[in-house]
Amino acid sequence: MTSPILVTGGTGTLGRLVVRRLRDAGCDVRVLSRRSRAAKDGIQFMTGDLATGEGIEAAVDGVATIVHCAGSNKGDEDKARNLVRAASRAGAAHLVYISVVGADRIPLGSRVDRAMFGYFGSKLAAERVVADSGLSWTTLRATQFHELILTVAQQMAKLPVVPIPAGFQVQPIDADEVAARLVELTLGEPAGQVPDMGGPRVYGAADLLRGYLRASQRRRPILPLWLPGKAARVFRAGGNLAPEQAVGHRTWEEFLAER
Ligand SMILES: NC(=O)c1ccc[n+]([C@@H]2O[C@H](COP(=O)([O-])OP(=O)(O)OC[C@H]3O[C@@H](n4cnc5c(N)ncnc54)[C@H](OP(=O)(O)O)[C@@H]3O)[C@@H](O)[C@H]2O)c1
Repeated sequence: MTSPILVTGGTGTLGRLVVRRLRDAGCDVRVLSRRSRAAKDGIQFMTGDLATGEGIEAAVDGVATIVHCAGSNKGDEDKARNLVRAASRAGAAHLVYISVVGADRIPLGSRVDRAMFGYFGSKLAAERVVADSGLSWTTLRATQFHELILTVAQQMAKLPVVPIPAGFQVQPIDADEVAARLVELTLGEPAGQVPDMGGPRVYGAADLLRGYLRASQRRRPILPLWLPGKAARVFRAGGNLAPEQAVGHRTWEEFLAER
């Protein structure tokens, strides 16, 4: 019998797609979630919280490979630390991590920068925890998933006038294409930091919103908002993009049309 692959965040947007693809590849899959769930479709669910470390030892027990997709807008370095500690004790052979394009480029020197873009700092810190873990590892950075952009657009469109950070661009990518690459990396040899993965096109943030408004047959005035700080300046210069790695295929328009 082969040991199961643990997918943290296997209930989330990306993790669910990773789980499905690993199952399709014939792998035995275990999912970590903060909520308890009954086993389903051959997937075993383990209850645990990476922020506190509770339940993590049992989740990694007997696991050789871990795909770490759990994340939130804060504290991913602590989650990575708790996971790495338990995985090292359990003797895991390969830890695969998903991070974000720009994690190493967005400066977070000031309070303003950290308040607005602290997520990028916590992803970089988590990457370092993984790289320094002593485990064999693979880290992939991806640009923003379509689902995230849609959620933001839906929230923003509730406002009568929609503020959009002036000069910001986004390169949205299909989460299932990222899942396919993660599964390929998971089933391969540990590869360290692999090339970034970006969506097929770079859009102005306002154009993405306009696309959503058009597709949902709404009209809203857009108000460009000049964000202060060095991190925002790096965003305006495209620090969150990977135009030379525009390897994704499905476009924002295709995603919207299917929704
Ligand atoms: N969304 C993007 O555009 C994007 C782009 C690049 C990289 N990423 C990275 O990709 C990963 C997945 O993103 P996503 O958008 O798929 O996330 P998501 O849909 O928000 O799902 C988050 C997942 O993390 C789990 N989780 C959160 N906090 C946890 C904790 N304390 N302990 C255990 N599990 C926890 C949740 O599980 P339960 O709720 O079941 O506990 C859920 O399965 C994240 O690391 C994110 O930073 C995302």
